[in-house]
Amino acid sequence: RLAQLNGLTAGQLRLGAVTTAKYLVPRLLGPFCRQYPQVEVQLNIANRSEVIRRLEDNRDDLYVFSQPPRHLDLDTVPLADNPLVVIAPAGHRFTGQRIRWEQLATEPFLSREPGSGTRLAVEEHFARFGWVLKPQMTIESNEAIKESVAAGLGIAILSRHTLIHTAPGNLVELDVEGFPIPNRWYLVRWRTKNPSPAAQVFSRFAEVPLDTPTLPE
Ligand code: PGA
Repeated sequence: RLAQLNGLTAGQLRLGAVTTAKYLVPRLLGPFCRQYPQVEVQLNIANRSEVIRRLEDNRDDLYVFSQPPRHLDLDTVPLADNPLVVIAPAGHRFTGQRIRWEQLATEPFLSREPGSGTRLAVEEHFARFGWVLKPQMTIESNEAIKESVAAGLGIAILSRHTLIHTAPGNLVELDVEGFPIPNRWYLVRWRTKNPSPAAQVFSRFAEVPLDTPTLPE
């Protein structure tokens, strides 16, 4: 079996990933594609509910979720932390202070759409603390939310990884009690489905721990 894997030179690898995982998956694909340049990779990115639909329709070999669906018979392997943080425009009055969420209650809140895993994690977290979530604006893209926050439209809760390539000086992460919301990515596949050779090899690459990238100052 190992010989077969080591001899893998061609084939296809179809990955279905939630939007935040676009900041993770290329780092896993780098070493994989360098070693197996003949494997054709298809990376499909969508929000959680759309990736669940792809999974149910059996469209991809492997999936990356932060919150794998609990009602399906899946094999899930933890990959890396994906903490969710409160972001505000640079120069926000609470920059550098430890604050409580209630102190932000009057700020317009920009949220991902229903069906988003980020939104689900935020809703579950708020329910635990008894906080009320009242989005002023719903935006279907992490990047558009970042731009909107930077433009002063409000605050938001996003994966810290979405901030990594943000130009320094646009956004700040606020230090809020109860944050970051702990979260983690998982590599997911059907337990009952035999993985393709390419999917088996990619899973092994994904087990290697990655360094946590650091945010720009
Ligand atoms: P989302 O998923 O794109 O559905 O918000 C992100 C995640 O669950 O990490």
